[in-house]
Amino acid sequence: MAVDLLLGLQWGDEGKGKIVDVLTENYDIIARFQGGPNAGHTLEFDGIKHILHTIPSGIFHKNAVNVVGNGVVIDPVIFKKELDALKKFNLDIKSKLLISRKAHLILPTHRLLDAASEASKGKAKIGSTLKGIGPTYMDKTGRNGMRIGDLELSDWKEKYRNLANKHEAMIGFYNVDIQYNLAELESDFFKSIEELKELTFIDSEEYLYQAQKKGKKILAEGAQGSLLDIDFGTYPYVTSSNTTAAGACTGLGVAPNQIGGVKGIFKAYATRVGSGPFPTELFDKDGETMGRVGNEFGATTGRPRRCGWLDLVALKYAVRINGVTELMMMKGDVLSGFKKLKVCTAYNYKGEKITHLPYNIEAENVTPIYTEMKGWEADLTKMTKKEQLPDNLMAYIDFLEKELEVPIKIVSVGPDRTQTIHR
Ligand code: GDP
Ligand code: IMO
Ligand code: MG
Repeated sequence: MAVDLLLGLQWGDEGKGKIVDVLTENYDIIARFQGGPNAGHTLEFDGIKHILHTIPSGIFHKNAVNVVGNGVVIDPVIFKKELDALKKFNLDIKSKLLISRKAHLILPTHRLLDAASEASKGKAKIGSTLKGIGPTYMDKTGRNGMRIGDLELSDWKEKYRNLANKHEAMIGFYNVDIQYNLAELESDFFKSIEELKELTFIDSEEYLYQAQKKGKKILAEGAQGSLLDIDFGTYPYVTSSNTTAAGACTGLGVAPNQIGGVKGIFKAYATRVGSGPFPTELFDKDGETMGRVGNEFGATTGRPRRCGWLDLVALKYAVRINGVTELMMMKGDVLSGFKKLKVCTAYNYKGEKITHLPYNIEAENVTPIYTEMKGWEADLTKMTKKEQLPDNLMAYIDFLEKELEVPIKIVSVGPDRTQTIHR
């Protein structure tokens, strides 16, 4: 089977960008299948840090072609900025980066609608990245959206105008104070579209089918995480796409029977950015230490990420929904120096002990039940071999493998490409 998946198992920011970059040497094609510039995928090598939002994380490898799939939503303005940042690396973008004609476009008014919707919700706001993700997927499923392929038609500006006019009326409907200068936003948008049109647009499902037939190895790169999935996440505090395994089939046009390995990636603790329930969230010194040592700030918005202990109830749920076949544990190095570690193995749910994720995990219903483990002192960041890993970390890993019933194949000990231990 030709297509492996790499998916975040928590609330995003697990380290997908880093691992896709590490794994790309084994693949011919890296294909993003959902999400948009709400994602921030960080890669580090040769002393340089790169943050990608829409472009797949295999872009720095000469051997791989990178596909932006039909399930992705593209903001031409942000896409242009990403391309600008890549210019100094002399990559052959025209042949290495291919964009699905069926991917949807984020219009400036989608971003405004996102802001208006959030402002209208007050305290109940989702904490969205304000990149226009929700409104763009709403237009997609509402059958009003604009697609990359439309840019090849002569009447695309007319289509644009009609949709933007409708959006302006909708912004008015929200009755909130949103300041904007649409003429300025549109000028930026149209300029960026001209640059986007220089790239290669493809029928990506056909391209990927032919690639599979030729035996090419494909890695599908997820964005966000399973607990932000529109169906299976902590609704309504989720994103607007299917971040879980099935999303790769619809987001790329790959048949389910072509999916091979499902690589699930998680942090050794847990983080969340934006609103929504987070049972193991910490408000004490431990949480503060995770945030500081782990440099837990959103790669897209710069917002501090909320931090907490690893939640095995939620992680098991994600492993099952995705059919994860191997795990990758990130940021173990951040936990060095903690005397004791806690892992949530069950919830007290309305007075009853449960081990599955219930419908509602708001704090008033759920209290985590923890298993305590011994911490380790050693600095992991210079370690390169599994034999070097401290015993207490190995005990932590063994415990997780037993609970999750899936092997942990990679232990990441720092942000750099080289700080990756294979087991
Ligand atoms: P993504 O959205 O899943 O690609 O993850 P992000 O890039 O948003 O966030 C992960 C952050 O952790 C980035 O700043 C990475 O450079 C960093 N990172 C990745 N793996 C490790 C690791 O093993 N240890 C440490 N300390 N940082 C890591
Ligand atoms: P990567 O790919 C972490 C969160 C937002 C918000 C919710 C909805 O880097 O892991 P949206 O803008 O999608 O409407 O926001 O989802 N969110 C992410 N959190 N990592 C991400 O992507 C995220 N993309 C969206 O903070 O709570
Ligand atoms: Mg991120």
